[in-house]
Amino acid sequence: MQETILILDFGSQYTQLIARRLRELNVYCEIHPWNKEPELNDSIKGVIFSGSPFSTRDENSPQPKVEMYKGKVPLLGVCFGAQFLANHFGGEVLPSKIREYGRANLSFVKSDSVIMQGVENKSQVWMSHGDTIKSLPAGYKTICSTKDVEFAGFEVEGEDTFGIQFHPEVFHTTDGKALLENFIVKICKCSQDWTPDSFVETTVANLKSKLGNDKVILGLSGGVDSSVAAFLLHRAIGENLHCIFVDNGLLRKDEFSSVLESYKGLGLNVKGIDAGQSFYDALAGESDPETKRKIIGGKFIDVFDAESKMVDGAKWLGQGTIYPDVIESVSATGGPSQTIKSHHNVGGLPDFMKLSVVEPLRLLFKDEVRRVGRSMGLPEFILGRHPFPGPGLGIRILGDITKEKVRILQEVDYIFIQGLKDWNLYDDVWQAGAILLPVQTVGVMGDERTYENAVALRAVESTDGMTADWCHLPYDFLAEISNKIINNVKGINRVTYDISSKPPATIEWE
Ligand code: XMP
Repeated sequence: MQETILILDFGSQYTQLIARRLRELNVYCEIHPWNKEPELNDSIKGVIFSGSPFSTRDENSPQPKVEMYKGKVPLLGVCFGAQFLANHFGGEVLPSKIREYGRANLSFVKSDSVIMQGVENKSQVWMSHGDTIKSLPAGYKTICSTKDVEFAGFEVEGEDTFGIQFHPEVFHTTDGKALLENFIVKICKCSQDWTPDSFVETTVANLKSKLGNDKVILGLSGGVDSSVAAFLLHRAIGENLHCIFVDNGLLRKDEFSSVLESYKGLGLNVKGIDAGQSFYDALAGESDPETKRKIIGGKFIDVFDAESKMVDGAKWLGQGTIYPDVIESVSATGGPSQTIKSHHNVGGLPDFMKLSVVEPLRLLFKDEVRRVGRSMGLPEFILGRHPFPGPGLGIRILGDITKEKVRILQEVDYIFIQGLKDWNLYDDVWQAGAILLPVQTVGVMGDERTYENAVALRAVESTDGMTADWCHLPYDFLAEISNKIINNVKGINRVTYDISSKPPATIEWE
């Protein structure tokens, strides 16, 4: 039985952050939409009500079935969650005169409240709400205040129920981690045994009993998620895991052979399929970005399907889906969103494949995937790798794709990425790559006039690819790389550096 903290999501932008903080404290938690609340069971050690863009006074504000939990299991309301607990049980919540947003300092801390232990008087907290609690229900006691917010936190007499109007999960609340730890360890009595090692152990045991002697097919991409998923499955079922690694002809220079060899060296049962030419044939003459994507995705399915048919009696498709793709979050603008993003590392496989899906990483955040990979001994060059789009260099060659253009871009990309590694800049950059521009420019080499292609280099900082800023790479580095590219890659006589952030630009050019 996995000890679990249940987080009910009311649509706050910070809900996932609460989950991240609890996981960092080695406690397993799950996020569920407030109106799809699970029944209590012995594994649920505590419940957290998240914040929300709604006001408790809104007619259509979330109305969770609080009686299911309150008084039966430890309960912590955060921001809206706290205001809901106050409002619902007879207190008063009103719009605050000043919008309480940003940093504040605690002016009072009830030091004998278990949840406040280690939270310093005067410590900084992060507020983000337009409403405030004006009066507490009977039996509710104040546990902390700020200059402007009298009831910044409360506890309920005779119950393990608490509310705080600030956000303990954000970095700006300096003692927020202590407060959350008090809740999950001292109050919920969680044993903090959710670690990468324990995850590997239980997941491998579960996979063993679920899969028995069944065969599983998995599409490797060379990326972190599919690799870690493969190694977990491999540990559970060994040779019954059949990995397929397709060379679509649009990978980085030498990537196919080097990654394939390293997978094999690590014991994976992996088949490499060199399908580059069939991708080039299918793409010939096509320059529309979305059509290119469709062609590459469709071709991948053809190749993958043909290969998987060769694995006699395969019943399962392994995928590297991770938790952010699975969480059904409550959208900020309307009711709970019913859509679950489906993420397919292998590019969206059609139903006709008739395989059941097994997703060993579906409960993990990205950094946890890395920690699990590390605990299984995967090499850093797989774990620390920059993200790389499924259509690969196909969307970094603007316009139509030819084998020769791929070769040129691979050379440019190699010099850039190798340079980042040599200058110890690779790990500071979230994603980097080169783009072959459909532009010819005039240059001069020796005494000769040249008329060749220009390339763009792109390096960004980001956390999830949703927003990004261009990296301020050192001029000396850019100068060296530009020289190397122009002197070594035939066909290129100009290098530019992309200084656009996302939004309004995107990371890829197509
Ligand atoms: P954009 O260009 O939208 O990229 O800012 C955000 C992130 O998504 C990656 N990307 C893709 N990944 N298939 C993929 O698997 C695609 O078609 C695709 N397009 C963009 C991009 O590399 C970046 O990490």
